[in-house]
Amino acid sequence: MEDALGAVQSMLVLGGTSEIAASIARRLVENRCTTVVLASRAPAANDQLATELRERGATEVESVLFDALDTASHEKVIGDVFDRIDVDLVLVAFGVLGDQAEFDANPAAAVSAVETNYVGAVSAGLVTAARFRQQGQGILVVLSSVAGERARNTNYVYGSSKAGLDAFAQGLGDALAGTGARVMVVRPGFVHSRMTAGMPPQPFSTTPDAVAKAVVQGLARQSHTIWVPSLLRYVFVTMRHLPRSLWRKMSAR
Ligand SMILES: NC(=O)c1ccc[n+]([C@@H]2O[C@H](COP(=O)([O-])OP(=O)(O)OC[C@H]3O[C@@H](n4cnc5c(N)ncnc54)[C@H](OP(=O)(O)O)[C@@H]3O)[C@@H](O)[C@H]2O)c1
Repeated sequence: MEDALGAVQSMLVLGGTSEIAASIARRLVENRCTTVVLASRAPAANDQLATELRERGATEVESVLFDALDTASHEKVIGDVFDRIDVDLVLVAFGVLGDQAEFDANPAAAVSAVETNYVGAVSAGLVTAARFRQQGQGILVVLSSVAGERARNTNYVYGSSKAGLDAFAQGLGDALAGTGARVMVVRPGFVHSRMTAGMPPQPFSTTPDAVAKAVVQGLARQSHTIWVPSLLRYVFVTMRHLPRSLWRKMSAR
């Protein structure tokens, strides 16, 4: 249950080793979230973050095994957490960027990326939504991307998976209206994290902590969609309508 001041008290992170998720968890714990469940493919990899969150004031931090690709397990893995804890917030943070050249050469790798980013999120999102409906409350925070706003020729598999994820999350948010549950879609630009390590930064690049700060603000404002940095909302109004030939040239960089 959110406390009297609207702060979430418990969260489940799907993709517990994500750098952006770690920053969001730190900020929410500082903002009175006391219970954190980190769900990831290798729970031991969450140990350092778990210790840090306890030091910052979390009273219950646990790790569970979660694989976005193993959709048959989602009902049980996520359901087990909800059976023990009233989860105020679920963060969908898992995702793979991949490499477009590798996807072009190996379509099976592209399918796996799409299954992680889109299919896995649809599965986990619907399991979560059913539990939120039962609870009569809960916030699903989904890490989408500006890459889904308009596909680039250099990462169109990733971009298309995020476009699907974004549309799913927006539709789910509307479907949950009136249930007490809601969805907040987060559209970051280029974030300096493990995912983008070694890549040349894009304009308006940002940090995991800046994303986390924007998420906390968005939660307080009950936003349904946020952009990080916020200026990207207006940048993409233009980007979306650029002539195709110009967009193709800009995307190739
Ligand atoms: N970095 C950016 O520029 C950027 C921009 C916009 C949106 N985003 C999105 O933000 C989210 C977090 O990204 P990040 O920057 O924090 O990158 P990150 O540190 O690489 O985090 C990605 C996370 O996805 C997890 N993951 C990958 N495949 C999985 C699977 N099959 N099952 C469960 N977990 C899986 C990884 O777990 P392992 O540790 O097991 O690999 C890791 O925890 C992603 O959805 C990403 O697309 C990132």
